[in-house]
Amino acid sequence: MSAPTADRHQTAERLLKSSAKKSYDPAVDIDWDAPLVPDAIWVPEHRVSLYGTELWERLTPEQRVELGKHEACSVASVGLWFEVLLMQRLLKDFYAEDPTSPRAQYALTEVADECRHSQMFARMVDAAGVEPYGPRESIRQLGKLFSVVSWGPASYGAILVAEEVLDRLQREQANDERVQPLMRQVNRIHIMEEARHVSFARDEVTRGMAQLSPREKAYQRFIVAFISMFVVRSLINPKVYAAVGIDPKEGRRAALANPHHREMIRWAGEKIMPFLTEAGLVGRPGMTWWRRSFLLSEG
Ligand SMILES: [Fe+2]
Ligand SMILES: [Fe+2]
Repeated sequence: MSAPTADRHQTAERLLKSSAKKSYDPAVDIDWDAPLVPDAIWVPEHRVSLYGTELWERLTPEQRVELGKHEACSVASVGLWFEVLLMQRLLKDFYAEDPTSPRAQYALTEVADECRHSQMFARMVDAAGVEPYGPRESIRQLGKLFSVVSWGPASYGAILVAEEVLDRLQREQANDERVQPLMRQVNRIHIMEEARHVSFARDEVTRGMAQLSPREKAYQRFIVAFISMFVVRSLINPKVYAAVGIDPKEGRRAALANPHHREMIRWAGEKIMPFLTEAGLVGRPGMTWWRRSFLLSEG
């Protein structure tokens, strides 16, 4: 094995060991029969997309909790969709790999993790009695191109945006005692297993960028920015607003213009953006898309 290849397998070997030591099975590690706590919030109020807007002022306290629940379930079902796209990516990468290599073994382990997560998110949405919204239909269609137009650093970079943005939100929710216990437990399990995925993807980004020509790097910068904008803008399916009597188009418009919501996205991306910048993935010709994503400080 050449040095970089051996190094690549070292990360996978470490992650495989960690996976063997600590993995969860949501089918048994979550008490699905426990009744939901009536009136408990699903996300802290200040994280609801309309918080602080005129539309928010018009909602009753019950409607605010209801909207938070629908948004939590939208994020969970969109997260599930991200996971399906990631599984496609991993399986595509694994396709040409020696199945006995640590990297291939880890790719399969991560697919298994994401399979369990997707089942877990679906069950949570079902338990909440909310429609599994997923992304808007046009975005779902566009998602079919994800593993065609993106590969290497851009692919794993966009996956990191999804994983790290959700991670930041989930950590806050898991630590908030006012949040529905089911939601907190789902988040706790997800946070612990995602830490490995983040290590793997960061490694793929750094290693991948080092091997590219300036021209290829420019393509990667464009694609990662383009996909990341859709990642963050897909989290809240506009249909959620109808659950509290708000026209979906009006709700979406208000959310996108809401400084609280924009700030939440910037805050959620605060950990991943410096890494992507350092890796050389943030820059021209992707800056328009980064700005539209609200992930940059100057939003
Ligand atoms: Fe996951
Ligand atoms: Fe993941």
